[in-house]
Amino acid sequence: MAVNTLTIDGKEIAIEAGKTILDAAKEAGVPIPTLCHMEGVHDVGACRLCIVEAEGTPKLLPACVTAAAEGMVIHTQTEKLQNYRRMTVELIFAEGNHVCSICVANGNCELQDVAVEVGMDHSRFSYRFPDRGCDLSHSQFGIDHNRCIMCTRCVRVCDEVEGAHVWDVGSRGPDCFIVAGLDQPWGEVDACTSCGKCVDACPTGAIFHQGETTGEKEGDRGKMAFLTTAREKQQWTR
Ligand code: SF4
Ligand code: SF4
Ligand code: FES
Repeated sequence: MAVNTLTIDGKEIAIEAGKTILDAAKEAGVPIPTLCHMEGVHDVGACRLCIVEAEGTPKLLPACVTAAAEGMVIHTQTEKLQNYRRMTVELIFAEGNHVCSICVANGNCELQDVAVEVGMDHSRFSYRFPDRGCDLSHSQFGIDHNRCIMCTRCVRVCDEVEGAHVWDVGSRGPDCFIVAGLDQPWGEVDACTSCGKCVDACPTGAIFHQGETTGEKEGDRGKMAFLTTAREKQQWTR
């Protein structure tokens, strides 16, 4: 097995070739904030929360989609990174309608957790208050686009773990949104098996079980990694 050796926050770590900086940081016990990353599906580098600095390059690197290379010297907690991460979270809050006090995920929300992690207690940016819809056409679930942060975890889980590919990304730039089927009401998409994996994968209150009230949604982030390993290794308990 080919191995790369690198340094992360002063810790030397040897990691299998092909693994990412985020994998190496996990191995070294160095926490890096993430939002769009989820074990069990491929990474897309959408949220930019996991940026790190590598000595010798002026660019900030997204740890989840950057391969760990031999000899890299990585810093994960510089002042510059902390400032950028905080600003990224502020922008996410300003971009949608994240009214935590009336959200099904209040208290069980990864966006809230990340805000706490990066020390964000208010946004310096003007709130856009976009006028987005809510789709309750599915018999069991709902999607409130106001709380979507476009991490695409639902898209990847439904495609790669469930194999249904109900979700995708429509439009461009500030108008982009999560589309069900061919931009149909979710309840009319025959491909949906009602498995609920997208509900478990969604880090915010955007996709939820109907009937859940404020603070009741608890996602199951580890389920996708469990399912992929279970299928590969036939280990069906956790
Ligand atoms: S319930 Fe399952 S099949 Fe339906 S959209 Fe969600 S992940 Fe896809
Ligand atoms: S609906 Fe949830 S999982 Fe899907 S992109 Fe939006 S925030 Fe992410
Ligand atoms: S976790 Fe790496 S870009 Fe989102």
